[in-house]
Amino acid sequence: MNVTTINGIQLAYRDEGQGTPLVLIHAFPLSHAMWEPQIADLSSNLRLIVPDLRGFGASELGEIPTSMEQYADDIGALLDSLGIARVALAGLSMGGYVAFAFLRKYRARVTALILADTRSGPDSDEGKMLREQNARMVENQGLKPLAEQMIPKLLAPNASTSLQNHVRQLIENNNDRGIAAALRAMATRPDSMPLLATIDVPTVVVVGTKDPLTPPSEAYTMSAKIPNSRLIEIADAAHLTNMEDPTAFNEGLRFVLPA
Ligand code: MLT
Repeated sequence: MNVTTINGIQLAYRDEGQGTPLVLIHAFPLSHAMWEPQIADLSSNLRLIVPDLRGFGASELGEIPTSMEQYADDIGALLDSLGIARVALAGLSMGGYVAFAFLRKYRARVTALILADTRSGPDSDEGKMLREQNARMVENQGLKPLAEQMIPKLLAPNASTSLQNHVRQLIENNNDRGIAAALRAMATRPDSMPLLATIDVPTVVVVGTKDPLTPPSEAYTMSAKIPNSRLIEIADAAHLTNMEDPTAFNEGLRFVLPA
């Protein structure tokens, strides 16, 4: 794991392989480590830049409140520190929200987009209330109850016990304050729907057919609005498609990346 100081915090990241740069942006409430199956398979011809967003994994949280824009600014600053001008971006779920924020601010730096198990709309009022409830639960009780609540939604019912345990471990390795801050940051994220029709880079939208958090209907809506995008459904996977079926996920990425 590498560490760099950017935007007033120490940000941890992996930088693996050589070739076209691809940034992998993790989901909530995980860390860069959810991308292990992609690092293992794709770093032979891609340069994978895989950060822990601020407040996750080994990255410092910095000042709160934070925002999707701040996470995107951190990625921009990380790329500057590495001397990388333009990248392909892959974001899963909250990682997709960060990818939209990056696109809003740094459009000229994006060469291709992978939007996995994510949505473009903002939270409903009820959704915002639930975020606040969960933030308080994490602050008062730690990450175990959040992991219990989320694992059945992140993984399909037939996921192996070892995958469930691995995901639980990744969640519980996080820091309560960082996770509470991310919940509040997601609640205040802007509507990214107006962006969709303006996306003019090769784009793949990926979804697990059994995803209860960002269901296939969300993916159809996004893909229909993004000119020339390709939709890939991963059968029998739920939300963490890249971990549940890495082979299908990695093949999907190839549609917008060099072979
Ligand atoms: C994620 O996987 O990043 C979260 O489910 C996103 C969300 O809660 O909106």
